Amino acid sequence: MIGNATLREETPQDHSAIHGLLVAAFDRYGEAGLVEALRREGDLVFGGVADVDGVIVGYAALSRMNAPFAALGLGPVAVAATLRQKGVASALLRWSFAHVQKDQWRAIFVLGDGAFYDRFGFRPELAAGFGTPYAGPHFMALALNGALPANEGPVDYAPAFERL
Ligand SMILES: CC(C)(COP(=O)(O)OP(=O)(O)OC[C@H]1O[C@@H](n2cnc3c(N)ncnc32)[C@H](O)[C@@H]1OP(=O)(O)O)[C@@H](O)C(=O)NCCC(=O)NCCS
Repeated sequence: MIGNATLREETPQDHSAIHGLLVAAFDRYGEAGLVEALRREGDLVFGGVADVDGVIVGYAALSRMNAPFAALGLGPVAVAATLRQKGVASALLRWSFAHVQKDQWRAIFVLGDGAFYDRFGFRPELAAGFGTPYAGPHFMALALNGALPANEGPVDYAPAFERL
């Protein structure tokens, strides 16, 4: 990753920069609004930022899911366009997962591209038994703190995702 980036948890002072990063990365307001709704509704468990000299260049959100065990949903994830392909997202995600693992979360689910998320250990087969509107090859799970406590049951993202 770029050498002068600091990985840390978001603070309230970062909210407007995170908003700007997400709007620019997705070219719409949806994901920025989603993160604000997750915060407002108490479902944002962890917001990880990559900070280069006080500028937020990367962001990853982990939010509470409804699941048979303590599970987090990953997303949105974004890196400033000029700093992509340098490992910023990978470093931020690995650091964020190590951080939440300490709090005994048992899984992280993501809806995304396996070509990217496979490198962190996300597997579609781990998520395949759960009942969710997101079921399919792009819905993947990563087990934390041992094997998943269950392989089936209802799983859904926090309510704010329904409004995305
Ligand atoms: C996806 C994103 C966060 C990756 O950030 P990054 O810092 O460039 O990622 P890294 O440098 O750690 O890793 C780059 C790898 O991700 C892959 N990648 C990037 N975007 C991808 C995508 N949309 N689908 C699949 N793979 C992707 C690259 O091909 C590269 O793979 P390689 O290492 O095998 O060459 C960044 O491209 C981004 O902000 N995109 C716009 C927002 C977005 O689509 N977010 C993801 C959905 S929530």
